[in-house]
Amino acid sequence: MASQAEVVAMGRAVELAARGLGTTSPNPVVGCVILDARGAVVGEGFHAYAGGPHAEIVALANAGDRARGGTVVVTLEPCDHHGVTGPCSRALIHAGVARVVIGVTDPNTHASGGVKTLRDAGIDVEIGVRAAEVEAGNIAWLTAVRRHRPYLIWKYAATLDGRSAAADGSSMWITSEAARMDVHAHRSTVDAVIVGVGTVLADDPQLTARNLRDGSLAIRQPLRVVVDSGGRTPPDARVRDGAAPTWIATAAEVGEPGGDQVDLHRLLTRLYERDVRAALLEGGPRLAGAFLARGLVDKVIGYLAPKLLGAGPTALVDAGVGTIADAIELELIDVTRIGPDLRFTALPRKVES
Ligand SMILES: NC(=O)c1ccc[n+]([C@@H]2O[C@H](COP(=O)([O-])OP(=O)(O)OC[C@H]3O[C@@H](n4cnc5c(N)ncnc54)[C@H](OP(=O)(O)O)[C@@H]3O)[C@@H](O)[C@H]2O)c1
Repeated sequence: MASQAEVVAMGRAVELAARGLGTTSPNPVVGCVILDARGAVVGEGFHAYAGGPHAEIVALANAGDRARGGTVVVTLEPCDHHGVTGPCSRALIHAGVARVVIGVTDPNTHASGGVKTLRDAGIDVEIGVRAAEVEAGNIAWLTAVRRHRPYLIWKYAATLDGRSAAADGSSMWITSEAARMDVHAHRSTVDAVIVGVGTVLADDPQLTARNLRDGSLAIRQPLRVVVDSGGRTPPDARVRDGAAPTWIATAAEVGEPGGDQVDLHRLLTRLYERDVRAALLEGGPRLAGAFLARGLVDKVIGYLAPKLLGAGPTALVDAGVGTIADAIELELIDVTRIGPDLRFTALPRKVES
């Protein structure tokens, strides 16, 4: 059973892991704390970027000789493979630690096996400490690796009566600058932004992550994905401007054999193979409906402006719901005011792999 000091250290490791959010993909975020035999913290570390040292290696370097005989508290099972860096399990054995406390095991079959290697070397291993918090802190990566598809977040903006545009089609701007800045900040933390060709034809969005005040681009740009069965994206569309990588996904590439529409499961599998672990689905209503109808949305973020239109297109179309008993139910996990608007975050109760 984990000691009080180990439980506290796991909370700290979750905080440390969060510092890597948005920069470690396709790797997970990981935090690590090393305690000496008396339970005092002697080292800390986190995984900061893909290709950089793993959290355990940073914490071991930080602790030096004080790690010998101590306890390593780490959010994710130490890796056991020779990736860009050597296996963390061997580094822990070499450092002479006595005990390893793990939040969750690694679902990635290439990297897992660290627990067995550590136990075989006589190290005491405990798994599952503060597991719910650890899971929540790494949910996009864990979900993606378990399902072999990106963690999909549907983001939309609407009026309080659920309209995404007015009756004449005008939609700029439903929500405030503050809400749109929030979206741009979010874009720079995901690996891909997805829209349907209908949105490209209607709005010609650039889909980059940028500072709305001065137009400067964020250092990290997500892959721009247009779901465009028949290749109708115009040659001069802004998504093709070279400011970020772009994939126009057509039915010829990711359709069912003989089918004339993009197959959304195949699309997600292909994105996973391209190292996309978290993706922001930015609409429009038809594509969002298609993903939701298939149970492929993991999280919903809605920006609601305190406006009413009474007419005009809705934020969601054809989500496969014909009767109230079939409504897609969500669990509301956060409501935040952003400038004059409301941002809510919710989790669909039923998600398919
Ligand atoms: N308020 C918001 O948050 C928001 C966000 C985005 C857009 N919008 C608005 O939405 C409007 C455009 O709506 P929309 O519904 O036409 O756009 P959309 O959802 O972006 O695009 C729909 C198109 O996606 C393509 N698609 C490819 N594979 C699909 C599949 N498996 N299932 C469904 N669709 C697939 C279809 O065209 P193909 O068959 O040719 O592939 C379909 O017509 C615009 O007016 C825009 O302003 C609002």
